[in-house]
Amino acid sequence: MTKLDALVLEPIKLTGTPHQNRNDSNGTQMTAQTPVSPIEKLAHMRDESHQTGSERLLERQRAQGKMTARERIELLLDRGSFVELDAFMRHRETNFGMDKKRNLGDAVITGYGAVNGKLVYVYSQDFTTFGGSVGRVHADKICKVMDMAMRNGAPIIGINDSGGARIQEGVNSLSGYADIFQRNVMASGVVPQISLIMGPCAGGAVYSPALTDFIVMVEETSHMFVTGPDVVKTVTGEDVTFEELGGAATHTEISGVAHVRAQNEFDAIHRVRELLTYLPANNMEEAPCCLPHTSPLIDKTLNGVVPENANKPYDVKEVINRVIDNGSFYEIQPNYAENIVVGFARIDGAAVGIVANQPLVLAGALDVAASRKAARFVRFCDAFNIPLIVFEDVPGFMPGLDQEHGGIIREGAKLLYAFCEATVPKITVIMRKAYGGAYLTMNCKQIRSDLNLAWPSAELAVMGPEGAVKIICRREIAAASDPVAKEKELVADYREKFANPYVAAELGHIDDIIEPAQTRARLIDGLRMLRNKRDTNPTKKHGNMPL
Ligand code: HXC
Repeated sequence: MTKLDALVLEPIKLTGTPHQNRNDSNGTQMTAQTPVSPIEKLAHMRDESHQTGSERLLERQRAQGKMTARERIELLLDRGSFVELDAFMRHRETNFGMDKKRNLGDAVITGYGAVNGKLVYVYSQDFTTFGGSVGRVHADKICKVMDMAMRNGAPIIGINDSGGARIQEGVNSLSGYADIFQRNVMASGVVPQISLIMGPCAGGAVYSPALTDFIVMVEETSHMFVTGPDVVKTVTGEDVTFEELGGAATHTEISGVAHVRAQNEFDAIHRVRELLTYLPANNMEEAPCCLPHTSPLIDKTLNGVVPENANKPYDVKEVINRVIDNGSFYEIQPNYAENIVVGFARIDGAAVGIVANQPLVLAGALDVAASRKAARFVRFCDAFNIPLIVFEDVPGFMPGLDQEHGGIIREGAKLLYAFCEATVPKITVIMRKAYGGAYLTMNCKQIRSDLNLAWPSAELAVMGPEGAVKIICRREIAAASDPVAKEKELVADYREKFANPYVAAELGHIDDIIEPAQTRARLIDGLRMLRNKRDTNPTKKHGNMPL
């Protein structure tokens, strides 16, 4: 029995008869038929609070394949575990006829419940009431559950489906957003924050999800943008659709704003439940651990993964999947910056964060997008005590005008900063190339990595043999009677001297050279050895990460 078993209650069966002529959104104009006992009044009010804002919008919601705010919560949480708070709050706005429309709950459902038996806080915006727009009271409700999540150390999940700031409330609604943003930032690194986008999320409203750890978007029905297509047309003359501007594909493939793309709302909610299985409830808890999986410790097929030709690609996900507990890889941003693969997995039952160069895409080089993607993931894992496992095959930082102009210096520094700062257990497996600054950035020994293992195919060097001899032997090659043969000879010589793991092992820059087949066994062993690792950074207000 967990403590939270107490939360898994049967849904409360409401008593009392719903009344057709209930017109008292203020609860004050009850008719002669209205029940008068306090218990009946409560049932009546509860029933009213469960009602849909607008039948028209509900029908549209259904036609679009969207669930209601309450249905989403019911699906997200363990059955019967949802406890609603503030169901009776309503706005106090009187302008624009708003005093005639004072729906209970004010377009957002808030409360707590359990996911896989663990406490979470949740809010879910109701588009059928005022378009899910955020007024002062709506924001107050969200802030209350955020405060509770922080105080009680549990994840907060926001389900967004809203027209943004409630126009009728003016600056008062903007102040509500500011209160939410402030809490998003204070909660960052304290409790996991997950945003589900299940409808529009426009204007400054996008900045609350953007401040959270993970954004899940639904294909076709969810959209995030700072300014909509009409404004874009007016300002820049561009003709764009909602989907192009801010659909799930845009944000999971091009902008990198979102982390998970779901086919529909069921899929999205399922993905969030699954994601939560890898996360601790808060930054004081260890990463979750479940029963160890019985995948074989030795996998001989790993010995043949890296091609003999150093320039031939292979799929790093094959390596990841053979090393982790069977089928446990949960990839984050799989379609964005595919030259780096990041995600959660379990090894020996324990949650870990994986960061791996992908030789299949851009030869696994680190570019602007890949550096940023990995840096953010590393920082999340470090904040929440999730050990990091790095699979390295990196030819360097991506060269080119667009990369330099895009700030590869600053963006690469982000990833370097993130690994240097991280104090969780850190293990690197060098599979092939480990060149130059990119080698150092990918969690080398000197930036406080705990265990650095190399496969026999590893090449640790300032750069690849071909590039290196062109620089250091330029005159020798030019003076040779057969420059091509000379260059080939020098490349072979360089490869022999530097493009192997033995020089690095001799100098202690790696801890061991292992047969690839043994990688899983060595990682399990390493993670057990590091279970009680404690490391700290100097006390300071905060560092100045190159943002
Ligand atoms: C009040 C709103 C609203 C809003 C929608 N509604 N947005 N009410 N404030 N922001 C109401 C509509 O009046 C309508 O009410 C109902 O919700 C459904 O809206 P529709 O327009 O019929 O829905 P749809 O066609 O699906 O269009 C959805 C939409 C559109 C794209 C979101 O409603 C829209 O463009 N809304 C405004 C978006 C916006 O500009 N928001 C402010 C952004 S700035 P009825 O009574 O007719 O059913 C912002 C600042 C945040 O948010 C501040 C943080 C810094």
